[in-house]
Amino acid sequence: MPAPIQESLQKKVADRLAFYQDLGIAPFYRDRHDESVFQEQPVQSAQSAVRSTQISHEEPTLPKPLPKPNLQKPVPAALPKTAPLPLPAPPAPSLFDADDRIADDTLLRIREDLGECTRCKLHKHRHTIVFGDGNPQAELVFVGEGPGADEDAQGLPFVGRAGKLLTQMIEAMGLQRKDVYICNVVKCRPPENRTPEEDEVGACSPFLLRQLEVISPKVIVCLGAVAAKMLLKTNRGISQFRGQWLDFRSSKLMATYHPAYLLRNPNAKPEVWKDLQKVMAVLGLQPKKGKPA
Ligand code: URA
Repeated sequence: MPAPIQESLQKKVADRLAFYQDLGIAPFYRDRHDESVFQEQPVQSAQSAVRSTQISHEEPTLPKPLPKPNLQKPVPAALPKTAPLPLPAPPAPSLFDADDRIADDTLLRIREDLGECTRCKLHKHRHTIVFGDGNPQAELVFVGEGPGADEDAQGLPFVGRAGKLLTQMIEAMGLQRKDVYICNVVKCRPPENRTPEEDEVGACSPFLLRQLEVISPKVIVCLGAVAAKMLLKTNRGISQFRGQWLDFRSSKLMATYHPAYLLRNPNAKPEVWKDLQKVMAVLGLQPKKGKPA
């Protein structure tokens, strides 16, 4: 019987496969989206997030391995007597070593890969791609839905009316915009600010996933249902899990209402402030004096 795989390695393997699958590299293994993230209980540590990617003992349908190229140098028939003994080759880095996970990816590289994107129909009407903005080493990332008219004009996320409210929320948390990172699920404005469609989210989400992987924040706050549903792979309504701690890879994830929703429903502001206070507690932040807007 093969030796049991260590739990920590199982988690690494599961996380890595989940990441590849989310990037759209599909043939690795079976669908994992069984929503078991919601069976986890809140505010345990990120390690407790054994997501639905956990290794199954059933046979996965793996593609046939390609024949391994023979990379070894031909061994001479006899070594000359004086030749030093060949040193053992250093161990090949494992695909699952934490340090080699797309180790040299950067926000700049992701932006370059995005290019002048035409991967989905949103490119037809956009003026500017809104990639994301803020501190690349932020402990806190806000993920919105997609740019509106102001963002499309300026190339920056959350700079319109909803953005002003988000800025006030960030400042009420004792932070400034430059301390956090702000981005969206789709990087081009949907016409008439409609909800992005599935194919648009599908085309754009690998870039968001790479951004989150590079920044690797302590906390991700999903602003509204589109971001929450995309990252959590769920169709549940946001009110079912708003304000609860969930896990997203090595980050803690909290979904709350979108600032645009708060502009239409100011009565929901206290609920969002409660959510943000939970975030502040995890990040060790003191609120700015005075009542938040
Ligand atoms: N709404 C969003 O979801 N994102 C923005 O950048 C602006 C408004």
